[in-house]
Amino acid sequence: MQSKTISSAVIRRLPRYYRYLGELLENGIVRISSRELSIRMKVTASQIRQDLNNFGGFGQQGYGYNVEYLYQEIGKILGLDKKQTMIIIGAGNLGQALANYDFEMIGFSVIGIFDANPRLEGLAVRGIEIRNVDEMEAFVKSCHVDVATLTVPKKNARELAAKLDEWGVRAIWNFAPIDLIVSDEVCVKNVHLNESLMTLSYEYRNKHAAAEPEE
Ligand code: NAI
Repeated sequence: MQSKTISSAVIRRLPRYYRYLGELLENGIVRISSRELSIRMKVTASQIRQDLNNFGGFGQQGYGYNVEYLYQEIGKILGLDKKQTMIIIGAGNLGQALANYDFEMIGFSVIGIFDANPRLEGLAVRGIEIRNVDEMEAFVKSCHVDVATLTVPKKNARELAAKLDEWGVRAIWNFAPIDLIVSDEVCVKNVHLNESLMTLSYEYRNKHAAAEPEE
């Protein structure tokens, strides 16, 4: 299945399809038309058909979509059909919160948590011991790591990313508020809650500006 020419807008929509289809499966729904799916997802049926046609369609005229098949195929496109390993670097507030989250649901196992603070060493989060960051190089070189999650202060993030790149890690999930500098081999996804909140603020302020009391 070719995904090279697929627009990033389509790729960004796939996790939402995956989530909805997962819910349908949980509710025992075996097939669905693009129209029904569009009503549930509040997107147009033609958008759904167009998006899924990028990957060969999956739908059958007069039948709609086989929910389980579509769920599995979208999972494959997103790379979720294989187990993936993750390490978390920075076991502070955010790092521990992420370590506590169940990413196994989508096939990611947290296999290592690292921090520079010796006081955190040996503490366990969901059964995984926090190790000193000095042990990370040997760990990464001996255990296959698919994704490294960066939850360190921004002043340390670039240096760590460069090391991960050098040691062969090819995907970084970056929460530090700084743009990383890595080789073209490395996929980086930045997650910035602030930016999401700012766009919410924009929409809220624009929609409800008239209701604001005058200063
Ligand atoms: P925190 O101070 O609770 O945790 C940071 C941890 O990183 C500490 O335990 C510290 O010992 C460790 N650390 C520092 N240098 C390190 C190194 N070189 N190697 C390994 N560990 C190291 O901070 P918090 O609140 O957990 O935030 C972590 C990062 O995430 C910050 O950069 C913060 O700005 C960012 N953040 C991002 C959000 C987002 O939406 N993207 C939301 C909240 C925080």
